[in-house]
Amino acid sequence: MRALVYRGPFDVSVDNVEDPRIEHPNDVIVKITSSAICGSDLHMYEGRTAAEPGIVFGHENLGTVTETGSGVTSLRAGDRVVMPFNVACGFCKNCLAGNTGFCLTVNPGFAGGAYGYVAMGPYKGGQAEYLRVPYADFNCLKLPPGREHEEDFVLLADIFPTGYHGCELAEVSPGESVAVFGAGPVGLMAAYSAQIRGASKVFVVDRVPERLQKARDIGAIPIDFTQADPAEQVRDQTGGEGADKGVDAVGYQAQAHTGQAEEPATVLNALVETVRATGKVGVPGLYVPNDPGGVNEAAKHGLLLLAIGKLFEKGLGFGTGQANVKHYNRQLRDLIVEGRAKPSFVVSHRLPLDQAPQAYDKFDKRIEGYTKVVLQPAA
Ligand SMILES: NC(=O)c1ccc[n+]([C@@H]2O[C@H](COP(=O)([O-])OP(=O)(O)OC[C@H]3O[C@@H](n4cnc5c(N)ncnc54)[C@H](O)[C@@H]3O)[C@@H](O)[C@H]2O)c1
Ligand SMILES: [Zn+2]
Ligand SMILES: [Zn+2]
Repeated sequence: MRALVYRGPFDVSVDNVEDPRIEHPNDVIVKITSSAICGSDLHMYEGRTAAEPGIVFGHENLGTVTETGSGVTSLRAGDRVVMPFNVACGFCKNCLAGNTGFCLTVNPGFAGGAYGYVAMGPYKGGQAEYLRVPYADFNCLKLPPGREHEEDFVLLADIFPTGYHGCELAEVSPGESVAVFGAGPVGLMAAYSAQIRGASKVFVVDRVPERLQKARDIGAIPIDFTQADPAEQVRDQTGGEGADKGVDAVGYQAQAHTGQAEEPATVLNALVETVRATGKVGVPGLYVPNDPGGVNEAAKHGLLLLAIGKLFEKGLGFGTGQANVKHYNRQLRDLIVEGRAKPSFVVSHRLPLDQAPQAYDKFDKRIEGYTKVVLQPAA
């Protein structure tokens, strides 16, 4: 089959690879109709991880079941399904508690597994014609048949639940003000989720004009961090108090708010300044224990200069980690089915698999409005 293969930093190609097959009675094979490119893929693409050449990328996958293992009970060929980016078993201590992003079974020695991602286990990605899904009864979420809502549903694999998770970690409640850093797909989904949860005022901080425009389009207040200190801009619009809650949807590749350089703790520290005393911050933005491209020796080991003194003084709460997609995807699916949510407003491009290398290049440069690309291998 055809698949998008990582060759080395800034080098991916669409190649012929071995077809996936049933390896365990609870596996299914899914023919991929949509697989999205994620900001997380860029960390590997840019050579900022230990990813080895040969990895098939793709953890945001939707398609049709073509084959089922003998132990699969809830699925049959022809079912349309979307899979959380997390591979999870459903029966370990963490899965039972709903923390499927930290499954103890699927990736021994590391809490959590994912498709097509370095260090997240042996699972191949779905930017390909077919995908093997393990623990399929648990990991497949059934969708209404047909092609309706294809671009909304594919976002259930990661960014819609991940944005929602950012709000859950921050305990966003009706009537609150929320400051989201990052107007990438995850940040926009966090802002959208804050609105779904009843936030009264949502700020979205970034510098990319098209992305800030998308924030404005959904009724959020765009904050351009190149114009003035973003914490100050938010305080000015919240009676001097600061936002009730905050979300970091940027992660360790954050750009300094003054100048162009990468400064990995920028957003964490900006949130300490932006959120009012005793507020809470959700951090779905990625931080890593090892970063070969880190800006200094400490950053290479995941050690950042965090304003812990100020954080303590303000009594802030911080929650972090991979999103437990399974915990939210059924409810978010039903919001889409009932017409109450339409997350596909973030999708900027839909392309055949063969155009994936060009899409990676442009998405990585954040040019030509590349915000969220959905690849269509079966199209
Ligand atoms: N926790 C999870 O489960 C999970 C899942 C998916 C993605 N992620 C992570 O979420 C983060 C965002 O993903 P994405 O796909 O939206 O990425 P993205 O790279 O498309 O978006 C990041 C945005 O942040 C902006 N930015 C950079 N520095 C900034 C700063 N100092 N202040 C404000 N904005 C700044 C950039 O201009 C960009 O628009 C990444 O770190 C990704 O790895 C985490
Ligand atoms: Zn993703
Ligand atoms: Zn588990």
